Amino acid sequence: MGVAFVFLAFVAIFAGIMCFMKNYRKIQLDIPAPNALPIIGHAHLMIGLNNEEQLKLITELCFLYPNLVKVWFLHIMGIIVNSPELIQKVFNSDVCMEKPYIAYKLFNLDNGLLSSRYPKWKHDRRFFNNSFKISTLQSFIPIFIQTADKLTNEIASFVDGNSFNILDYTIRCTLKMICSTSLGMNISDAENDETFNKVFHAVDTSETVAMLQNKPLVYPDTIFKLTPRYYENKRQGQYLKDFHQRIIDERREILKNNNNCDEKDLGYNIFIDHILNNEGMFSDEDIQHHVITVLSAGYETSATATAHCILFLAQHQNVQNRMVEEINEVYATDDEITFESLGKLQYMDRVIKETLRVAPVGPVIFREAMDDFEIEQGLVIPKGTTFVLNIFALHRRRDIWGEKADLFNPDHFLPENVAKRHPCSYIPFSTGRRNCIGHRYAMISMKIILLKLLKTYKFSTELNFDDLRFKAVLTLKLIGEHAVSIVNRY
Ligand code: HEM
Repeated sequence: MGVAFVFLAFVAIFAGIMCFMKNYRKIQLDIPAPNALPIIGHAHLMIGLNNEEQLKLITELCFLYPNLVKVWFLHIMGIIVNSPELIQKVFNSDVCMEKPYIAYKLFNLDNGLLSSRYPKWKHDRRFFNNSFKISTLQSFIPIFIQTADKLTNEIASFVDGNSFNILDYTIRCTLKMICSTSLGMNISDAENDETFNKVFHAVDTSETVAMLQNKPLVYPDTIFKLTPRYYENKRQGQYLKDFHQRIIDERREILKNNNNCDEKDLGYNIFIDHILNNEGMFSDEDIQHHVITVLSAGYETSATATAHCILFLAQHQNVQNRMVEEINEVYATDDEITFESLGKLQYMDRVIKETLRVAPVGPVIFREAMDDFEIEQGLVIPKGTTFVLNIFALHRRRDIWGEKADLFNPDHFLPENVAKRHPCSYIPFSTGRRNCIGHRYAMISMKIILLKLLKTYKFSTELNFDDLRFKAVLTLKLIGEHAVSIVNRY
């Protein structure tokens, strides 16, 4: 017993020294940093801060250090990359395609695109790019319309009534969209049974993941297992896995019986069918991870962005009116919503882009150097270093967006203004090969929801744009509700 203890203590001390030595090389890099304490580094700056204060702190750091800044906590070291030029260099480099395990392992979806290690990601991303091509997305338009119509009907009871939280409704709408387009779930059936509600609760693990991100000491499973949240998380995770396995098995059976002619028969190309039609390429666990990743990465982001947009429109009546004018012009004679007609909604495009500038729903993302990487002449970042990108701060830099960077102004996206900026000044869907695979899916589905809602209702709110506060809990969340009121537009 005594010998084992001494041996373990020796191993722990040795590992600690090795960790420190490894980190030491990075800490010595010629990159500015706020004042750090010995051993704990910058942990003292973050300890005790809530999610809102943490976002404020790292945003201030980005404003203070416009190119690069390094921060470290114990053995974890990160370089925050701030200027568009360096963001382009790092996030578009083949050397920086890896995701740091510590930041993404918490999702427990190691085989899904968001978290997978580079070699697997490279193979799988090539395959899935095909599932998100324009023709596939076009085939989803009828599903988007049907689901957006349902949302429009669901909120009808609020007409001329009290304000309500529009996010409660957009979130169910986008989850239904993704469940239909990725799993082939029938929206009406799902509504009638408990399944949909259970998926909804099981998929929402963001609070747990955020809690873990904020408490590095809970990272080791042995400690996390002592908390009640571990068991709740495990139960919900198991539910999701069983649920997906059931759908996978059912779908496999349907495809077998239909002799693989599903896609043409249905009129749209469900995500899971793409995978199952290539049996042998993925294990059942791979399929589960991929499907749950797309579900989790897609529904809350789009729902939150849509809710932000509605709230901003309620606060900017002139923008709302102009958007409705455009909708009426584009759909003056023909109501048919097609990929082409959606493309004509140029002003709406600018409004959505401005929404994602002011409130990028994926506010902070990470990468890891797979090899030594020369970021600037003579400045070599060692292999294994974590890069951090604060998209929220980038989108509010005064040197890029002007003194009124905090205000909502869709004209930021007039073509002549876009032409003046560096392409990496605005990256709500990240940049480079490991960017958001669902960005076009998101834009099309959001346009359809906004179009349907604005044609039917006029939105207003008592919330002031200047008083809005945000926190980063994986995604960017408004503090408080997206409280809006509606009246019939016509
Ligand atoms: C407004 C909506 C959305 C925003 C702002 C957004 C933003 C992002 C960002 C910033 C990333 C990079 C994450 C990282 O590197 O850590 C990402 C990745 C990803 N997103 Fe989205 N997203 C949105 C909607 C969607 C939708 C609708 C889907 C699926 C239908 C989706 C699926 C994914 C997937 C699978 C990844 C991982 C891609 C990879 O690493 O290859 N996203 N998204």
